[in-house]
Amino acid sequence: MSLLIKNGRIITATDDYQGDVLIQGETVTAIGKGLDAGADRIIDAQGLLVMPGGVDPHVHLDMPFMGTFSSDTHETGTRAALFGGTTTVIDFVLQKQGHSLREALTEWQGRATGTAVGDYSFHMAVTDYNDATQKEIRQMVEEEGISSFKTFMAYKGALMIDDRQMTALMQEVRRHGGLVTVHATNGDMIDYLIAKHRAEGKLSPLYHYLSQPEVTEAEASGRFADISNYTGCPGYIVHMTCEGALNAVRNATRRNQKIFVETCIQYLLLDANLYERDFEGAKWVMSPPLRQKKDRETLWAGINQGLINVVATDHCPFMWKQKLMGETDFSRIPNGHPAIENRMELLYNEGVHKGRISLNKYVEVACTNPAKIFGMFPRKGTIAPGSDADILIFDPNERHTLSAATHHMNVDYSAYEGWELTGKVHTVLLRGKVAIEKDECLVGKGYGQFIRRGKVGNFI
Ligand code: URP
Ligand code: ZN
Ligand code: ZN
Repeated sequence: MSLLIKNGRIITATDDYQGDVLIQGETVTAIGKGLDAGADRIIDAQGLLVMPGGVDPHVHLDMPFMGTFSSDTHETGTRAALFGGTTTVIDFVLQKQGHSLREALTEWQGRATGTAVGDYSFHMAVTDYNDATQKEIRQMVEEEGISSFKTFMAYKGALMIDDRQMTALMQEVRRHGGLVTVHATNGDMIDYLIAKHRAEGKLSPLYHYLSQPEVTEAEASGRFADISNYTGCPGYIVHMTCEGALNAVRNATRRNQKIFVETCIQYLLLDANLYERDFEGAKWVMSPPLRQKKDRETLWAGINQGLINVVATDHCPFMWKQKLMGETDFSRIPNGHPAIENRMELLYNEGVHKGRISLNKYVEVACTNPAKIFGMFPRKGTIAPGSDADILIFDPNERHTLSAATHHMNVDYSAYEGWELTGKVHTVLLRGKVAIEKDECLVGKGYGQFIRRGKVGNFI
């Protein structure tokens, strides 16, 4: 099967030109002007943008967390991602404390294999680093194609590791050419503030926010940068929200260090004032919490300064009845919000359409950098001969409204209900197949492939 996309405006992280893209089987085979290769099918992309499929390196699908499971499975979550123009996601495998990495991987493979609709890979979250875990790091990188390891500096008793474990893990991961990613907030400070607020009877969602002040994130980000610098292991801070944390990274650059930074779409767009809406604020209870206007401005500037490399989602949806688990105690509200389907359109509207970032920067932070940092480039994250034909054909002028009534995520509310956007996903290709067309998904359960990743070294 061959397919020709004609007359589109092709955008990569570095280029912007009119042209045609020829696809044979699963791969892009030629790019040019006036290509006429007798393809089996021609898609006319006149007036449309032709971009790489989105790569979202931070999603939690079917994840056991806070006494429940995130509500999107690998099927519903990757399908919703495709509807939103994201063709590859990286999900998190969570080691159970007292158990091996292998056991966790087997459990996640059981949920994802044959289920995913879109392509996916795994980060391995190390929550219990000991002599046995140490031996598994090489196996994960070399045998399983999992070259990134997630750590938590918070969620003590379930996920958090201490600085001793972090240092030892980073030394080991470095030895095998991997990368360590981190949820960088000071877990002990947060636990103290949560306990204090609960003891004072301060139990509404607002106190989730007030239990995680900016300093908890700035301190942990600086500490992580220091350990990364000392061990020489590449480090990546996930879901950065605020000025203080970005300044910790800025400081690290003064000693010639590179720390990769991800923010998420919600931190660019939403404010902590949403926590003042009584229990409705639970829709946006996530960790770290939403911040303030000055932080949003810092994050947009950080993208343009090249300090923030990736815009992800931290998609971790819960049904409203799951959120109600914390109706009388904010600390029991499952943390996370739904966005896997909305990221590409929201970032286009708020970033490109409103003039905050260029089209090239859009592709860089949403597609190319995540593929490069996590060892999937140039297979994923760009349009070039030899790359997977993962392509987002996007209408930059179509207007539409986000709503739970029309989204495809398995969650009964939208964090962006009623938002009116300019720019909409038109057609999505995944490995040469038309996956989304006319608001319909044309690939089925099990089409999504696990993407083995190489040693992480193809840095931006
Ligand atoms: O609130 C969040 N972020 N939920 C998912 C788990 C995590 O910390 O990333
Ligand atoms: Zn986190
Ligand atoms: Zn997360």
